[in-house]
Amino acid sequence: MPTLFIRTYGCQQNVADSERIRGLLEECGCISTDDENTADIVLFNTCAVREHAEDRVFGNVGQLKANKAERPEMMILLGGCMVHQVSVQTKIKKSYPYVDILFNTNELASIPSLILRRLKTDKRVLDAECAEYTLNEELPVKRDGLACRAYIPIMYGCNNFCTYCIVPYVRGRERSRSPEAIEKEFRDCVAAGYKDIMLLGQNVNSYGVGLEGDMDFPKLLKRFNDVEGDFTIRFMSSHPKNATRELFDTIAECKKVSRHIHLPVQSGSNRVLKAMNRHYTVEEYLSLIDYARSVIPGVYFTSDIIVGFPGETEAEYEETVDLIRKADFYSIFSFIYSKRTGTVAADMEDETPHRVKAERLNRLNEIQREVTDRLDAEMVGREQRGLCIGNLGDNKSEIRLDNNAEVTVDGTLEVNTYCDMIVTGSINKRLYGKVIEK
Ligand code: SAH
Ligand code: SF4
Ligand code: F3S
Repeated sequence: MPTLFIRTYGCQQNVADSERIRGLLEECGCISTDDENTADIVLFNTCAVREHAEDRVFGNVGQLKANKAERPEMMILLGGCMVHQVSVQTKIKKSYPYVDILFNTNELASIPSLILRRLKTDKRVLDAECAEYTLNEELPVKRDGLACRAYIPIMYGCNNFCTYCIVPYVRGRERSRSPEAIEKEFRDCVAAGYKDIMLLGQNVNSYGVGLEGDMDFPKLLKRFNDVEGDFTIRFMSSHPKNATRELFDTIAECKKVSRHIHLPVQSGSNRVLKAMNRHYTVEEYLSLIDYARSVIPGVYFTSDIIVGFPGETEAEYEETVDLIRKADFYSIFSFIYSKRTGTVAADMEDETPHRVKAERLNRLNEIQREVTDRLDAEMVGREQRGLCIGNLGDNKSEIRLDNNAEVTVDGTLEVNTYCDMIVTGSINKRLYGKVIEK
């Protein structure tokens, strides 16, 4: 039986794809291994969102050269978002002769036949040409061994064309899975004991567009909130332009939906937001989260920020700093703008030196740290429920709170069970707490 090693880059959507690839290849007889150096099949599922992500992939592919020289019969597959770019295909063809197969995100179901083609013809299989969008309904899923969390894609693709972003070009147009197919997967996850179930889409707020019947994301949340069992429903990502009051009212009603919402704002400057094609203003964004806080007491927001978008002035950056001070995000994912060939922003004038952008990022993160520290301090002493997500050794366990924060507590708790606990404080940015026996 061939052994299989999969390395996944990028977002949860890719993790979910890899779980389907693993399901399919294990069904075909492969045995999963953690050892990249001995695996018969090495498969990288790649991400194209920033240059840095692509550089890492090329670096890691480069490291496979020696393995392939030693064991020419091993097979190297490269797939995912990067492979949708012709420039990447060309580079692999020319400079990485030891890569056997390229596949794109529409071709997951064809991977076994691509492998057979490679074995039969002794030629590299590098076309990665399937442009027909898929929902991957027919694929088995082998979840990636996270003790508690299950990812469920509810839709694929993106129609938003934020001007900096490559995702719509590589992942194609939005398409939603049927509520029945998602519900089946959801119920399977609950039955398998998953307590933390995350619904995935590039913009879950446009779920249901194009489906027959009257279906949208709030309705989907209600449907899953009604499924029997003790679990938490999360979702990623939600675009502010389609985040409605109805969505927040629904979350308020649905007790199983996490009181943590990731709502990427990207910038605090209206001029930059417009240039990014985001379709909301800072004022609209702030009033949206104010509304959410009024109907969902204790809700936490997290966000994504890009600094150094082409033409971002110091004053516009300062507006982002202001927003970070005001919005009380529990945490942010912050990025330096990365030019993606083929996007609209790639043709915009970008004169700010990288050094300046890096300084902007550092300062922003320092300010966010102050906000996070304040919110952490406010949490101290408050009793809440957490999910044990792992044992850390040394008689300590790791607890995930509803707001996604992780807390270390004393004791070896049973993984994937809930406990009541209080946060006692933080040391070196790590939260500590204690379990309350009831
Ligand atoms: N669909 C999700 C985001 C997917 S990409 C959403 O809209 O929320 C995750 C994050 O990567 C984005 O929110 C953005 O902050 C960042 N990102 C995307 N393209 C980028 C680029 N070219 N340079 C830097 N950051 C980028
Ligand atoms: Fe990219 Fe914007 Fe789509 Fe998110 S919504 S994937 S940032 S284009
Ligand atoms: Fe990357 Fe593709 Fe996700 S580009 S961020 S893996 S959709």
